[in-house]
Amino acid sequence: MAGTQELVCQRKLTEYLPTISNIFEDWFVYTKLHQITIAMKRREFLGTLTAPVAVACTACMAAACSKSSDGPNNAPTPPSNVNFTVNLSTQLLAVGSSLSQSGVIVARLAAQNQPNSFVAVQESCTHQGTNINFSSGNNQFICPNHGAIFNTSGANVGGQSTGPLKVYAIAINGTTLTVTG
Ligand code: FES
Repeated sequence: MAGTQELVCQRKLTEYLPTISNIFEDWFVYTKLHQITIAMKRREFLGTLTAPVAVACTACMAAACSKSSDGPNNAPTPPSNVNFTVNLSTQLLAVGSSLSQSGVIVARLAAQNQPNSFVAVQESCTHQGTNINFSSGNNQFICPNHGAIFNTSGANVGGQSTGPLKVYAIAINGTTLTVTG
């Protein structure tokens, strides 16, 4: 009888083996899928982290840049106690011409030898100190560094936003133009 029982058990075990095998297989597949799901969720999570991190980095870069290219962080002190002369019989003869002296740029705006035919402003840009140029085509001073634009009153009217230029007084006696300030 024991032999018959053993035989029955063996047969039943044989019947169950595929089922057990299937269970293990299912469990294995489930585990694998679960791992993939976890991996995907992790990737999604990292993906969501990327945007704030990028934003943070952008903010950091903007902060770093703001020290070098935005705002008058390195604005130079304009020259003071300026007092020099220009000989109008030999210098600044043409309308639109300009010259630099003692940290000041003087430009001729009109033909007559009178004070309002000239303008004198600090030569160093109020942003970071680069020497500006006079653009005779539109009577503006333009900084070649970050593009700040100033009008003949020294106001910042375009390009890089920054402070105004210091404007110096001009007096004319005969053909002698004197710049002070
Ligand atoms: S130095 Fe930056 S605009 Fe002039």
